[in-house]
Amino acid sequence: MTGSVLFIGAGPGAPDLITLRGAKAIGRADIVIWAASLVHPGILEHARPGAEVVDSSQLPMEGVVPLYERAAADGLTVARIHSGDPALWGAVGEQIALCNRLGLAVEIIPGVSAFTALAAAEHLELTVPEISQSVILTRLEGGKTPMPAGESIRAFAGHGTTMAVFLSAARSGVLQSELLAGGYAEDTPVVIGYQVSWPDELIVWCTVATLAETTKEHKLWKHTLFLVGPGLASHETRSHLYHPGHFHGFRKADHEARIQLKAERGDRPGGEVGARG
Ligand SMILES: C[S@@+](CC[C@H](N)C(=O)[O-])C[C@H]1O[C@@H](n2cnc3c(N)ncnc32)[C@H](O)[C@@H]1O
Repeated sequence: MTGSVLFIGAGPGAPDLITLRGAKAIGRADIVIWAASLVHPGILEHARPGAEVVDSSQLPMEGVVPLYERAAADGLTVARIHSGDPALWGAVGEQIALCNRLGLAVEIIPGVSAFTALAAAEHLELTVPEISQSVILTRLEGGKTPMPAGESIRAFAGHGTTMAVFLSAARSGVLQSELLAGGYAEDTPVVIGYQVSWPDELIVWCTVATLAETTKEHKLWKHTLFLVGPGLASHETRSHLYHPGHFHGFRKADHEARIQLKAERGDRPGGEVGARG
């Protein structure tokens, strides 16, 4: 009789943005631990009748330890619900270490992160051909958790690609000046999402130069995410992957389109237009 802990990503807020696997996992738990401050209460509809439901928002890590110990002693299943995806700022690492010490089996069920929810809400592609092919997920240094050396907003801004900045709205002035100091142009587009997918969702567009004033104007300091980068303004460039001149294992290229695509790519290094797809 082995107890287990299921770490479940609840998604950004809307209760129907949890995965089917996550919802089913909540339904088989004896103990459901959720944070009322971060997770929509509608998620609890998936819990089975009689399940023990615990709000962790008032508890330190030590507060959940007795629940995990009981699960280990009695062979119970615990559903530990995290906002967004558990892999991002979910403190699952220390909890997995605890589970290992207690002999509890662990399963992690991914969820929709806030940054993809915000991109979806605004119909955005974060990887735009020829403008931005990378997404940096980060937060401002300072606050309660120190940042490792070399991981500053200023250093990341130097890449000029798309950036999703979590946990930083309370220091929007510093965020703005670090983004500018790192090299983003003042008119680089920024989309600010507050409580994305919740009933009180607020999404506003601004630029790097107006990021702080816009954040303060709307009194945003928590549950807020910033997407930053030149790719946010671009909907026009075309991916070669879906170009009729591109071939891959499941599709032949159109001959004329392929000649045109090769001409467009010209003498670039690695200019072959087929790929693994
Ligand atoms: C502790 S982190 C958790 C991130 C989460 N694991 C994820 O994948 O989205 C909390 C931060 O995520 C962002 N966040 C989470 N949910 C959000 C939402 N619905 N709207 C806007 N930002 C959100 C905010 O930056 C917030 O300060």
